[in-house]
Amino acid sequence: MSFYKRTIEDIDLQDKRVLVRVDYNVPLENGKITDDYRIKKSIDTIKFLIEKNCKIILCSHLGRPEGRPHSEMSLKPVASRLGELLGIDIQFSNDCIGDEAKTKSNNLENGQVLLLENLRFYDQEEKNDDQFAKDLSELADIFVQDAFGVVHRAHASTEAITNHLPSVAGLLLEREVTVINQVMENPSRPLMAIIGGAKISDKIDILNRFVEIADVVIVGGAMANTFLMAKGINVGNSLVEDEEIATAKEIIEKANIRNKESNFIFYLPQDGVVAKKIDKKTSTRIVDWDAHIVADIENYPKKVPKNTSIVEKDEMILDIGPFSGAFISGTIQLVNTVVWNGAMGVTEVPSINGPVGPFAHGTEQVVNSLLGEYGHKPFTVIGGGDTVGFIEQKGLVDNFDHVSTGGGASMELMSGKKLPGVEALLDS
Ligand code: 3PG
Repeated sequence: MSFYKRTIEDIDLQDKRVLVRVDYNVPLENGKITDDYRIKKSIDTIKFLIEKNCKIILCSHLGRPEGRPHSEMSLKPVASRLGELLGIDIQFSNDCIGDEAKTKSNNLENGQVLLLENLRFYDQEEKNDDQFAKDLSELADIFVQDAFGVVHRAHASTEAITNHLPSVAGLLLEREVTVINQVMENPSRPLMAIIGGAKISDKIDILNRFVEIADVVIVGGAMANTFLMAKGINVGNSLVEDEEIATAKEIIEKANIRNKESNFIFYLPQDGVVAKKIDKKTSTRIVDWDAHIVADIENYPKKVPKNTSIVEKDEMILDIGPFSGAFISGTIQLVNTVVWNGAMGVTEVPSINGPVGPFAHGTEQVVNSLLGEYGHKPFTVIGGGDTVGFIEQKGLVDNFDHVSTGGGASMELMSGKKLPGVEALLDS
């Protein structure tokens, strides 16, 4: 499917003054950027504009400062990192509107880049305020939207701004929307969705959509606990969203109906890694809550070691177990397209004696299978958020077909929602 909005490739940009909305909402620790993926992904558009001899004014939000300046949410560290990546000096304005921004943008020479301070230091940004958008628009002749991570919000720099300047998409936004729409609307089948992470409540819409359109849906991570509970499986002290059990039952029911009509697979983990504490030194064990199925044949309980089928009251399920990992990685080998959003376990707990943390083996196995370690490498799209953090840390981002820069935005797009920041752009 071709992109349905005008892009920087469709208009005359030669020597123009261009305001570019980027998403530089990057994690910072003590003023240091801990993940620069979003900055790297903004480079193609900026280079394209430099080649067109444009004067480039970048604007972004960082964090949620609630309409007031906060020094720890300044975009200054981003200006330095961007300068390193581009190999040029990036100018910086301490205010995104007003005299300093105007003077600095007026003084730009062709091919120079100015980054404006955090838009959300003004509460008008999140209020989609038209006057604020107009003030911003006065800095440039053309607006380029390239902040895929925030186009699901109707803010002044994503929506109102388009009332004041001819507005087109940047290269990152174009690629994100095109790839995600392609896998949702016309994937090379079989299509498999692997949905994990902590909460169902964040992912109900996307789960419902995949249960309608995918050939295989896998649920992992802590959100699987609520589904297991809905099926009457004991999950001990695991994180469960009680208020979502009814939703989980509805999704299971919908999946059962589709399963009767076609070869659709809806898979919940059949075993898990459990522990009493979320800690790198804690002792873990594997619980196989489907063990009774095997045991029935082999005269349960004699041949099953005690308690391997029960999560004890004080234990939590913190990763998928080896049978689930094998099932998922084996199934990956049979499909052509995978959309993956959310880790299978608590991947952030580090290991004390090796490269893989105690609750990261499931996610590791999924990564290995997706990357073709077992022979076949499906086309893989990775939604933003914790999944990206995990593969970034391993230096594997470039090994996947598409790793989205937007968590919320990619989920909304996959769920079939319109994104205000995209809709507001000029049609192609
Ligand atoms: C993100 O990190 O998901 C985007 O930058 C949007 O940020 P927000 O959720 O604070 O609007």
